[in-house]
Amino acid sequence: MLFHTLSLLLTLSTLGLAQDTSLGEVKRAFSNANIPETIKFAFDPKVLLEVTFPQTSAKPITLHAGIQLPRNATVGPPTFNVIGSVSKGPFVVAAVDPDAPTPQTPTSAQIRHFLGGNFFLDTPRTPTLLSNNTPAISHFQQPTPPAGSDPHRYIFLLFNQPKGFNEQTLINSTSSIAMFNISLFAAAVGLGQPIGGSFMLVGPDPST
Ligand SMILES: *[C@@H]1O[C@H](CO)[C@@H](O)[C@H](O)[C@H]1NC(C)=O
Ligand SMILES: *[C@@H]1O[C@H](CO)[C@@H](O)[C@H](O)[C@H]1NC(C)=O
Ligand SMILES: *[C@@H]1O[C@H](CO)[C@@H](O)[C@H](O)[C@H]1NC(C)=O
Repeated sequence: MLFHTLSLLLTLSTLGLAQDTSLGEVKRAFSNANIPETIKFAFDPKVLLEVTFPQTSAKPITLHAGIQLPRNATVGPPTFNVIGSVSKGPFVVAAVDPDAPTPQTPTSAQIRHFLGGNFFLDTPRTPTLLSNNTPAISHFQQPTPPAGSDPHRYIFLLFNQPKGFNEQTLINSTSSIAMFNISLFAAAVGLGQPIGGSFMLVGPDPST
């Protein structure tokens, strides 16, 4: 029985379908992909951030940190869950691509793929993040790495939402999504360090 459970877990993680279950593994995956260096955060996660992409004709895909997905599985918008939080929110979720247009020459990075506040845990027992009826500041944008590019890192970060966040005026729905800087933004509006995160790799469509 134990053996079966272990081999099932192994199979799931080999297939890349299993969600994250360990903060240490998430932290290692971020370090192995040089993410803390790139986005200038120490990244010491306190909770698991689950990012789930709905699929038109298959089961939804919940990321484990570092999974590579075909672009056509990332239409989204994703939903967010938090595992292990002591707080019910509010939280801010941000998603950035630091590798645009290519990881070698990221001259338009970061691209802001999502920014939203006022996320609350539904209930402690079914930890689903809900948007508190407020629209996202930047709606989710599907990855679109250009033809010929290596896969980009798409990084999702969870922050505790500071008081006054809804009054910030640095970024609004009409602001360009290019040349964003999540660590500068976080410092400017008092987000502090991320308390959780995940990421995926997405390359160009095979058809492009
Ligand atoms: C995505 O594209 C691949 C071919 O590159 C195809 O096999 C797969 O069915 C597509 N998936 C979706 C969800 O469209
Ligand atoms: C968005 O921000 C820009 C630049 O700060 C500002 O000019 C514009 O009025 C803002 N738009 C809205 C809808 O608040
Ligand atoms: C973002 O700002 C930090 C300073 O907080 C800087 O070190 C980093 O190079 C900037 N990143 C980009 C992509 O501009």
